[in-house]
Amino acid sequence: MAIIISGKETSAAIRAELKKEVEILKDKQGLTPGLAVVIVGSDPASKIYVRNKHRACEEVGMLSRVYEMPEETTEEELLSLVDTLNADPEIHGILVQLPLPKHLDEKKVIYRIDPKKDVDVFHPYNVGLLSIGNYTLSPCTPAGCMELLKRYNIEVSGKECVVLGRSNIVGKPISMLLLQANGTVTTCHSRTKDLKDVCRRADILVAAIGKPKFVGADMVKEGACVIDVGINRLPDGKICGDVDYDAVIDKVSAITPVPGGVGPMTITMLLKNTLLAAKEEL
Ligand code: GUN
Repeated sequence: MAIIISGKETSAAIRAELKKEVEILKDKQGLTPGLAVVIVGSDPASKIYVRNKHRACEEVGMLSRVYEMPEETTEEELLSLVDTLNADPEIHGILVQLPLPKHLDEKKVIYRIDPKKDVDVFHPYNVGLLSIGNYTLSPCTPAGCMELLKRYNIEVSGKECVVLGRSNIVGKPISMLLLQANGTVTTCHSRTKDLKDVCRRADILVAAIGKPKFVGADMVKEGACVIDVGINRLPDGKICGDVDYDAVIDKVSAITPVPGGVGPMTITMLLKNTLLAAKEEL
């Protein structure tokens, strides 16, 4: 019987721990961790994400400020807000919700955030620290995957780890975190040859390609641990992962479901990063 790795339960447990830590930080040090979330325009999905981040922050007792800017905001105005937040002592984490409207240069905006407040870990300085293994903040979704492995006692050291996907947000950073944890890591992508064979070598298989039910039983080794980062909407409106859950469930030793697996961990890791960034002040 496969272990079902619950991000929902793990996330709730971590949030309870964070809440306690925030209370102590407030009482003993007089410091309240603060997150600023900036959203430009009115993309409905982005608005929901931002609302969830705001609520999560308040639930653990952190300060949350949401900056809603109109679609027609200029680059100068947005950069000026980032500068203000960089200098704001109440704010320890800054997150600019992506995607930005087309007329705004995402790179320029992300690069303007003070790396100490870059709780998304998108700034090249932080990506560099991550790649040399000298980091405090780790990117939210990959950190969520690692936390699940840790809390379910799934050893990474010495294991064959195969990552499907090489995005800057998930594939590349999770590959680095697995390497940092002494895994033997292979990062696959659309040009990878003999993909099935490579995946079948994996003790730990991470799928982050955004293709519904792409990973079938013929791509997993008996007893593998499967981490499914995909969140895809099927034509019938249902959400599914990059892994064909029903097809692999009898073959794997552990798996994250979708929904309820990696998804709930992302915001939790954002809260953790905000707390870590605040503690760096002490
Ligand atoms: N849009 C979708 N996911 C994310 C995320 O993790 N961070 C930011 N800044 N924008 C996003």
